[in-house]
Amino acid sequence: VIDIDQWSITRAVELANARGQDSRIVHVVNALVRHLHDFAREVRLTEQEWFEGVRFLTQVGHITDERRQEFILLSDTLGLSTLVTAQNHSKPTGCTEATVFGPFYVEGSPQYLNGEDIANGAQGEPCFVSGMVRGHDGRVIVGAEISVWQSDSEGYYDVQRPEIDRHQARGVVHSLPDGRYHFKSLLAAPYRIPHDGPVGRMLEALGRHPWRPAHLHFMIKAEGFETLITHIFREGDLYLESDAVFGVRSSLVTHWVRHEPGRTPDGKTSDEAFYTLQYDFVLDRSTKE
Ligand SMILES: [Fe+2]
Repeated sequence: VIDIDQWSITRAVELANARGQDSRIVHVVNALVRHLHDFAREVRLTEQEWFEGVRFLTQVGHITDERRQEFILLSDTLGLSTLVTAQNHSKPTGCTEATVFGPFYVEGSPQYLNGEDIANGAQGEPCFVSGMVRGHDGRVIVGAEISVWQSDSEGYYDVQRPEIDRHQARGVVHSLPDGRYHFKSLLAAPYRIPHDGPVGRMLEALGRHPWRPAHLHFMIKAEGFETLITHIFREGDLYLESDAVFGVRSSLVTHWVRHEPGRTPDGKTSDEAFYTLQYDFVLDRSTKE
């Protein structure tokens, strides 16, 4: 194909892609090309802007490593993560809603027994978390694998603290024979998503703040059920309405109860104030059944 102009180029690329072996890949790439071309024509993209775009994506790549995932952050802040989560996890009424995965999950987090302290030395007010894991049919789920990860009291995840060489405020517990889970951690704080990189500069240019309301991340896996990736948010948080990554669902907001010093749920005594929060998860049937 020769003599291509700004309109015929789209069809030319689709034709060039037509011999791809995997029809899904061809379909996805062609749709991306159509939308990308429409976008460039709509905004009449200049060469300078094209170059800025290349530079921006290059920076997103360069700042990404095992501890920092700027591409997920970009997807999150552009609302793509919420869109993909929503269209793939519409759940029946009564099942716990899913929300974005975020960039701070770490493979191979430490295993804990119920009741143990997953803070593992991170500083902050104690918080005792508990609840049930049930299936859509109401029956308790025994041995569900519950991964949890959260920020410390200053709003940082362990992976954002280069001085820390161990996992803190993250871990895996399994639901007990009665479906219950419980662990000790610390009070999660609202935090700014990493904003010293290209995504931060993008937010600034758009007049947006980088804050997320306080939350705990959960990923719950159980045989025969769809894996649930979600958060629990804190009622009354300043940023519930303007989460930088659009992750808040009202069904995931719960009351985190403050207690004066005294007897704690683990039977010990705390000489500082502490918090409890309780949340029951309901998993949807696996689509693979
Ligand atoms: Fe988070």
